[in-house]
Order: sequence, then C-alpha cells, then structure tokens
Amino acid sequence: MADLTSENLAAARAPLQTAKSMPAGFYTSDEIFAAEREHVLLKHWFFAGREDELPDPGDYRALETPGGPALLIRADDGKLGAFANVCRHRGSILLEGAGNCRRIVCPYHAWSYFSDGRLYGCPDMEDAEGFDRVENGLIPIRMETWAGFVFLNYNDDAPSLLEHLGDFPQRMASHRLEEIRCTWKIRLESVCNWKLLLENAMETYHTGTVHRDSVGAQISRTLDTQGQWLCLQVISARSIATLPGITPAFPTIEGLDDDARQGTYFTVVHPTCQFAVAQDCMWWLNVLPLAADRSVLEVGGCFPEAMVSKPDFAAKAAAYYDRWEMVAREDIGILERQQSALGSVLYRPGPLSGRDDLVQQLGLWVLNQLPNL
Ligand code: FES
Ligand SMILES: [Fe+2]
Repeated sequence: MADLTSENLAAARAPLQTAKSMPAGFYTSDEIFAAEREHVLLKHWFFAGREDELPDPGDYRALETPGGPALLIRADDGKLGAFANVCRHRGSILLEGAGNCRRIVCPYHAWSYFSDGRLYGCPDMEDAEGFDRVENGLIPIRMETWAGFVFLNYNDDAPSLLEHLGDFPQRMASHRLEEIRCTWKIRLESVCNWKLLLENAMETYHTGTVHRDSVGAQISRTLDTQGQWLCLQVISARSIATLPGITPAFPTIEGLDDDARQGTYFTVVHPTCQFAVAQDCMWWLNVLPLAADRSVLEVGGCFPEAMVSKPDFAAKAAAYYDRWEMVAREDIGILERQQSALGSVLYRPGPLSGRDDLVQQLGLWVLNQLPNL
C-alpha cells in the first residue's frame, strides 16, 4: 500500500492530459483487495451466465462468486433460482460443475433439497429440538435478469439491475440480445489483478502490438453512457469477431441501427463484466477476482438463435471461438508481465495517453467506491 499516497491519488484523478496511471498498490496490495471485496465486489451486480444455459427443470450450474460458492438451478415450475452452494447442515458444497438433478443431495450426510431450494430430506434429525425444515432451505442470492443475462448481487440494498445498467439496454436494443444463445465458454486463469483485465478491454492503444498476429491495430471512439458501464466502439463495417483474414460467416443481425452497424461495442459493466457486441454475435469476458494478483477470466460466446439452429452452425462458429480464445490469451500474456512489473520497488505511475481515457475512468470508478482513498 506504500505508494497509495495522496499525491499519487491526486495525480490519478487529474484531468486526462496531466493524469498519471494508478499507484502500484492499487493492483498489488492485499489490503486494497480486501477493501474492494467488501465495498465493490459484494456491493454490486455481477454476471453469472445466460438463462439459456439452463433450459430445463433441474438444470444446474455451480459457480464461483465474490461471495463464495453459488449455484444456479431451474426449478420444476421453470423458474431459475440462485442459492449459496452450501449445505444447511454443516456447510458442505452441494453441487459441482453443471448437469441436471431432480433433488440436490448433499455429498456429506445426505440432506436433500428440492430444485427450488426447499429442504426435502434430512435423516436422523428427530432429536434436534425446534428444528424446522422450512427454515433450513438453501439460502437464496438476489438475482435479476435482463435479455437472458443473469446477474447476482450480495447486497440487498443495491439499486435494481436495470438501474445499474442505465442506457445499456437502449444502446443494445437493435441487437435483440434476448434472442441469442450461448454456444461456447472457456475458463482462463491469470496471474494478474482483476482491474488490469478490465482496463485492457477499454482501450485499443495496445491492439497493434499485443494483437499484431491476430486482430491487429484498431481505431475506436468512446461513447457516452448513463448508468454503471463504459463503452468504446471499434470502428469496422465488418464484424471483428473473426480474424482479419477470415470473412465472418454469419450475416449482420437484421434491423441493426446505424450506430451499431459502424462497429463492435466493447463495454465494461461495472465492476467485473465485459460484453463485446458485434454486428453478428456477442461474446463476454467475465472476471472473477481471486486475490490481488490472481483472477479467472471466463470467455463466453453467443449467436442469434436463428443461426444456432442451422446444420452448419458449428463449423462456421469455430473461427469465432478461435479468435476469442487467441486474443484473450494474448491479453493475459501481457497483463501477467504488467503485474510482475508493478511489483518493482522502482515502479512510478506513468503519464496517460488520450487513448487511455476509459482506463482512467475505470480505475477511478473503483477507487471512488473505497472509503478513505
Ligand atoms: S453437511 Fe450436508 S448433510 Fe451434513
Ligand atoms: Fe486486447
């Protein structure tokens, strides 16, 4: 935390032309990470997946979250639920991975739960005085969805998801994201701070160097946003969801508005979710912060349902998956080097470029949630 001085923080907050990058402690300090967990990660909405990943009653998926293990499960009545993935007896993890089950059975002493979270069976509990089944169902997590995107929140006092998203739904309206399907996902571990992954997504300054062998240099513009999100648009009349030499195999989504036709929206929905929305598809890069210098990046891809149901879909989509994975790995490569260098005792906050405008805004958004900084 040594370099989180008022002087360095004032320089980070200065107008962009004279601003400096963040002090190293912002990315390396365990104390800052603990404060972020309390004041950012457990206070705001975070992305948990697509509704269409769990189409049938009993479909479930275990997930890691800032508040611990959680699970999404679709109940018999078709409603999706989110719960702590924690047994009410003595706290075992209940489900791992993804699958379908009629009842959730604890692997420790075999308590079992309905898919809507109510306690079903609890052997040998006759002696427990005042034991009440109704009070011992799974603990729900606040969940809201927009256009099939599922978000969770550990803060009951947080504004609604729609309030959080501000004009994001309006900006994306012509993409009709409620009609897309998730078809692909990978999980990448990275030895870097979670904010480096998000800052990287909010500038195209690095693309000509880090991505010289893949997407190459890009031009972009920063768009105004209302609500808790940031947006830049990479200008390109063709979708950039495939590599430059490979013509996108899917058509432009019908009815896209003029703005959306101009390029791909790269967005960060604060605090940890990135949605990239192109003319023919969308993909997400969702960050799970694990420690000051460790994060998981989940990359997921979605296409309009009408495309997914075609027989040649899988063959055509492969080029998109290749591009998403290649670029994500290139980014992680450079960010892990940045993380190492931030550990240098000789690191000093550096000057920012005009192309770092959203990098600065992103850092300040987080900084301003932390008390006393
Ligand atoms: S911890 Fe689950 S039944 Fe005991
Ligand atoms: Fe990148």
